[in-house]
Amino acid sequence: MTDATGDGGQVQGAAIEDYLAELRTFPPPEEFARSALVSDRTMYEQAEADPEEFWAAQARALTWFEPWDQVLDWQLPFARWFIGGRLNVAFNCLDRHVEAGIGDKVAFYFEGEPGDRRTITYAQLLDEVGRCANALRSLGIERGDRVAIYMPMIPELPVAMLACARIGAAHSVVFGGFSADALRDRIEDASARLLITADGGWRRGHAVELKANADHALSSGARSIENVLVVRRLGDAAGNLVMQEGRDHWWHELVSGQDPHSPAEAMDAEDLLFLLYTSGTTARPKGIMHTTGGYLTQVAFTHRTVFDLKPETDVYWCAADIGWVTGHSYIVYGPLANGATSVLYEGTPDFPGRDRWWSIIERYGVTTLYTAPTAIRTFMKWGTEYPAAHDLSSLRMLGSVGEPINPEAWIWYWQQIGGGRCPVVDTWWQTETGAIMISPLPGVTTLKPGSATFPLPGIGAEVVDDAGRKLERGGGYLTLTRPWPAMLRGIYGDPERYRQTYWSRFEGRYFAGDGAKVDDDGYLWLLGRVDDVMNVSGHRVSTTEVESALVDHPSVAEAAVVGANDATTGQVIIAFVTLKLGLEVGHEHAEVLRAHVVEKIGAIARPRVVIFTDDLPKTRSGKIMRRLLRDVAEGRDLGDTTTLADPAVVAELRRRAATGSGEE
Ligand code: WT7
Repeated sequence: MTDATGDGGQVQGAAIEDYLAELRTFPPPEEFARSALVSDRTMYEQAEADPEEFWAAQARALTWFEPWDQVLDWQLPFARWFIGGRLNVAFNCLDRHVEAGIGDKVAFYFEGEPGDRRTITYAQLLDEVGRCANALRSLGIERGDRVAIYMPMIPELPVAMLACARIGAAHSVVFGGFSADALRDRIEDASARLLITADGGWRRGHAVELKANADHALSSGARSIENVLVVRRLGDAAGNLVMQEGRDHWWHELVSGQDPHSPAEAMDAEDLLFLLYTSGTTARPKGIMHTTGGYLTQVAFTHRTVFDLKPETDVYWCAADIGWVTGHSYIVYGPLANGATSVLYEGTPDFPGRDRWWSIIERYGVTTLYTAPTAIRTFMKWGTEYPAAHDLSSLRMLGSVGEPINPEAWIWYWQQIGGGRCPVVDTWWQTETGAIMISPLPGVTTLKPGSATFPLPGIGAEVVDDAGRKLERGGGYLTLTRPWPAMLRGIYGDPERYRQTYWSRFEGRYFAGDGAKVDDDGYLWLLGRVDDVMNVSGHRVSTTEVESALVDHPSVAEAAVVGANDATTGQVIIAFVTLKLGLEVGHEHAEVLRAHVVEKIGAIARPRVVIFTDDLPKTRSGKIMRRLLRDVAEGRDLGDTTTLADPAVVAELRRRAATGSGEE
């Protein structure tokens, strides 16, 4: 890191170079800061002075059946937290609130996509979880077993998860959008004994027949499954539903008749709470293991402090799907452990109209919204008339997760949704970290649009260069420097893959797979997955920065850039751009956007080709599939596209790439 070139402070040979400078800053709104749970830096200082004692203090906010004897045992890369401690996650999420007298408080306002609504209190949730726990016991499920769950976003999904936690069985939730094959593979990897599913769910007005998919999964393998418990959600709208005698049981028959009282098992702090499968570089998905005490400690702490939770008055809405880790940690476990009132919504944002979310916020008086940049950019594309038609004045906090949020999308969220008064917390974490790791605290941190800002109290995060040396400034690789309570305990059945994937690239550090940069004020900026970094004439350019420069143009709603191989420069930048709806632009608009990137970043980042498209290919969790766009850009065969949310998008893109729209 010695050969500075002097061109705009860039350093040649940097791990990843940083070009885009975002100068706008937003200190905590005064009124917000005055009543914030955390309003100064004391907590950061205490945590830094003694991280283990800090986490122990957070763990004491939970109810333990037996105290722990040791806070942490760290045998890199294997951590154990709160050793000897005993607790039950369902007890912490339900019983203790009912015992404290808030049984009548609303846990969930549920809204189904067709418009059906249910209000569920903590006392009702506890009873239903007790009945479900007894039903699981009646099917022979015991402490230590695995249970697969494949359900729509209906209240029975958190009930099923909590019932597993209550009896000490680990759940493995498989996102309802996954195929029968994906379900079968995950059941087999975990040797699950029971499958909990539903006849189906509603999505954009259509019935999604989950039980039919589950039957396919079970007829092609998944021999470990002994029983299937089926919620009736669609009723008559479910097509050819077959209940297999002796194996399949209706929820409303088996669960409803049970005793609501069901003892909560005293689990060891390190007992498995759940598996959640995430894709890796090979075809075989990784079963990420999360355990009991440390996980609940960190999700409850982060949910409370990052969202400045006021449980008596807040109505909190995390609009993710429970099938992803965001839903596990910030729809189910964090909010319930904190006694929060949440919204649970089954369907899509555009059914029956493009204002569905804003009508939900108005109806329930939502104070806190947590969603993903992909959703925000979709709303930008649709236009401001939809949020403007509703009263969003109940909102006081906004959150973002899942991808880097482009500064312009951040500003749109801040202005159009938050009315310029709600702090926006950009939260960085992963399925593997279990809980939020890098995020502002809304009453303390001065925000910069597009920056996740700083590690939370108790968390160690540093950016390093290729050789693993800490960078005080500039672009490199994001690493975590010490164990944290909610960290994954491994990959199910494959400890070597765990070590190899996360702990081998940099000695003594967890490597997250993300690029990041540190700015002059020490703020962290996420730059995308390092596999996506482009190499243009020997410069390592981050996809995120070029995309943010494109989204900065007022005509652009969303952009994805990839590097395509080029004999001269190594790679050239190809940009796929979605414009805001209703805009008429001519062919020359590609040149306008290319010039805009040059102005924001420099000539090095100038896209060679700009391809306009109505949609970008995304995974079902909303992440842009740059690998696929590279294949399109380089005219390669696309291989397996089954993980795409909408496979039709790719065919259209190929057509446009072939006709060369916007070529320089
Ligand atoms: C990857 C993890 C965290 C729950 C949902 C995704 C990206 C996540 C941010 C953010 C920039 C982010 C990273 C990370 N990511 N949050 N705030 N800024 N990038 O969980 O599917 O395990 O994905 O999502 O690349 O490694 P996941």
